[in-house]
Amino acid sequence: MAEKTDVPSIAVLGSINMDLVATTDRRPVPGETVLGTGFAMVPGGKGSNQAIAAQRAGGAVQFLGAVGDDVFAAELRRALTDSSVGVEQLRTVAGPSGVAAIVVDGGGENSIIVVGGANTRMTELTEADLAAIAAADILLCQLEIPLDTVAAAARHARANDTTVLLNPSPVQHLPAELWANVDVAVVNSGEAEQLGADLDPVAHVVVTRGADGAVYRGPDGRQLSQPSPRVEVVDTTGAGDTFTGALAAAWHRGPEWALTWAGAAGALATTKLGASTSIPTEEEISAALTTK
Ligand code: RIB
Repeated sequence: MAEKTDVPSIAVLGSINMDLVATTDRRPVPGETVLGTGFAMVPGGKGSNQAIAAQRAGGAVQFLGAVGDDVFAAELRRALTDSSVGVEQLRTVAGPSGVAAIVVDGGGENSIIVVGGANTRMTELTEADLAAIAAADILLCQLEIPLDTVAAAARHARANDTTVLLNPSPVQHLPAELWANVDVAVVNSGEAEQLGADLDPVAHVVVTRGADGAVYRGPDGRQLSQPSPRVEVVDTTGAGDTFTGALAAAWHRGPEWALTWAGAAGALATTKLGASTSIPTEEEISAALTTK
């Protein structure tokens, strides 16, 4: 394993989307039209959200991904640079950027449709991408870019002693070879249920349970349970991403501390509208833990 420092270097390989967010008291059922209460355009995407969260929570992050050449591209890039995430490996491809149509109801719960756009063009890793993965302490991936690229990145990370943290979302069946290269999996309870025994070979599994906190299972069968701080929920979009990014930033301090840190970060992310706009800083997470 690479030498651990207080500021872990994290390569985040994943998606970046413009989130088109409509708020409404109640989400429509199929065939129904409801009136909305507001609209916002907020940079998002699981990869970008996790990169920003990991950087703000104390990591040194490089983002590996793609935007299109459309009107959204500059703002998506700026969302990363404004948070000091490294974008040397963010490429621009012809065509639209990824977008997500999101409906948030009065209880803060959401429904999301992602149209991949430029994210689907992440079909190959460049030499510079591979070098960034090899040099990092942690590789952090999700599943909003082509699966073969995630598998190749995990294989390269394993070969170079880079810890692989996978958030397998949107959930899908994965090849055994990919699971074999994953050190840490972060899933929500629905995903844990769907993946079932697929998670067995993974040394460290973290299951997030919304307001009920998170549980951890280690390689020796050790279990930890972390309650979630009580907060006033406005929007849960990106809360799982914030938890995952913060977990990656704190992983070198051990699972117990990482769960505490990530739990506070994830809870704070539910208190504002939008994905990237609700991600707390290191100082905000520390303050929340101190005043608990
Ligand atoms: O996890 C939340 C994210 O999922 C949103 O930002 C949206 O872009 C989708 O990727």
